[in-house]
Amino acid sequence: MPINKAPTTPEAADINAAQLVAQAIAVRQRAYAPYSGYPVGAAVLADDGRIYTGCNVENAVYPLTMCAERVAVVKALSEGARHIVAVAVATANGGTPCGACRQVLCEFGAPEMPVFIARLDGSYRQWTLAGLLPAAFSAIDLETSSGQGSGEGPPRIDPGSR
Ligand code: THU
Repeated sequence: MPINKAPTTPEAADINAAQLVAQAIAVRQRAYAPYSGYPVGAAVLADDGRIYTGCNVENAVYPLTMCAERVAVVKALSEGARHIVAVAVATANGGTPCGACRQVLCEFGAPEMPVFIARLDGSYRQWTLAGLLPAAFSAIDLETSSGQGSGEGPPRIDPGSR
C-alpha cells in the first residue's frame, strides 16, 4: 500500500496509554546497553491495531547503537504496518526521544500523534509528535514544484490524512 494512502487509524479513545506504557517498561528489561548503562524501552501502536516493542541495542562501535524507538518502528514496518498512531517510551528518568528518533517517528506518525514519556513506576507525560519536533522536515519538503528534478517526486503525504 502506498504510504500516501489515508491510514485506518484507531480512534483516540482506542489508545490505551497505560497498556502502551506498561509494554515499554517491560521491554526495557531486554535492552542491551552495557556502554551507556541507560536502558530504554519503546512501544508503538500501529494502524493494524498491534503493539510493537523495541529496546536499545548498543555496540562496541558506539555509533552503531540502535535506539529503542527506531527498533520498535522498524519492527512494525517490517511486519506490514505503515502508520504509527501512538508511542510510549520508558526510561528511569523520563528522558525524551532523541532527535533522530523524532524524525523517524515523523515519517510514520501524524503531527498530533500522542507520545507518552514514561518512568518505571508507570507515570508518564503526554506530548504530541509535533510538540517534540515542530516544523519537521518531511516528504512534502522534497516536492519539485519548481520544475526541477524528475518531476515524479517523493511519496505525497497529506498531513491532514495521516
Ligand atoms: N537511546 C534510545 O534508545 N532512545 C532515545 O531516544 C535516546 C537514547 C539510547 C541510545 C543509547 O543506547 C542510550 O540510550 C544512551 O544514549
